[in-house]
Amino acid sequence: MPPSATPATRAREEGPATGALLATRQLTWRIGEVAIVDNVEIDLRPGEFLGVIGPNGAGKTSLFNLISGLRPPTTGQVLLGGQDVTALPPHKRARQGLGRTFQSSSVFGSLSVRENVRLAVQAQRGGSFKLWRRAARDTAVAEAADRALDRVGLGHRGEALAGTLAHGEKRKLEIALLLAGEPTVMLLDEPMAGVSAEDVPELVAVIRSLTGDSGRSVLMVEHHMDVILELADRIAVMHHGALLACDTPDTVMANATVQEAYLGEAL
Ligand SMILES: Nc1ncnc2c1ncn2[C@@H]1O[C@H](COP(=O)(O)OP(=O)(O)OP(=O)(O)O)[C@@H](O)[C@H]1O
Ligand SMILES: [Mg+2]
Repeated sequence: MPPSATPATRAREEGPATGALLATRQLTWRIGEVAIVDNVEIDLRPGEFLGVIGPNGAGKTSLFNLISGLRPPTTGQVLLGGQDVTALPPHKRARQGLGRTFQSSSVFGSLSVRENVRLAVQAQRGGSFKLWRRAARDTAVAEAADRALDRVGLGHRGEALAGTLAHGEKRKLEIALLLAGEPTVMLLDEPMAGVSAEDVPELVAVIRSLTGDSGRSVLMVEHHMDVILELADRIAVMHHGALLACDTPDTVMANATVQEAYLGEAL
């Protein structure tokens, strides 16, 4: 296991963190003596697509759990828009623009596709239940849900039961659920998991469109290297909890330490 606090784990811009939508500082999660996430420092710039790769068990999902607030770190900070959110629970981070999908599916199979997205919009908006406001609010929620479905190419599947969707459609629905929360930072954990090869290009196009407007940023874990190389502006490499490198795809792929970490393991 690499030692903690090595210069290699510090893959961030020097100087103030201003401008980064999401930043982690010395972020560490230990179970006993083992650092599952080891002193990770990343900066996600506005509009940036940052891919996260690493062998199975490298700590990628654990890093996302710390960033989203699902677990408290042992030490270190998570900053959203320059503000320290380390003490905030997941729903408060979501209100501040942080959205995530999960590695396993989080869709209500017995509800329709449209109902799933409406629930996600309502959850994000919360707000007043006063009757006289209800109708206007319901219309706004329905419109936002339909916009999210159109964004991912599921506009025609609104009435289908979510449980009947094919894998590729389900992944799109999960992204629509995420969009319903109007996030500025999106965490995607293996969005291609279980998707058949013929559905991958369409899903890649949907994911690429996420950073295409309004400075929204994406942090994405993905095992398909061709997808990462196609989408990512920069790639962060995790190994045994630590960040080995964080740079442009060409530089990362040419990095000897990265190649060594992957020796004998599928990327
Ligand atoms: N709650 C937990 N209790 C104990 N060990 C855990 C826990 N969560 C994760 N781990 C361990 O931490 C390490 C990192 O797991 P994590 O799921 O973050 O890896 P990953 O990079 O996402 O892997 P994969 O590519 O397989 O999804 C693994 O060794 C895992 O067994
Ligand atoms: Mg994982």
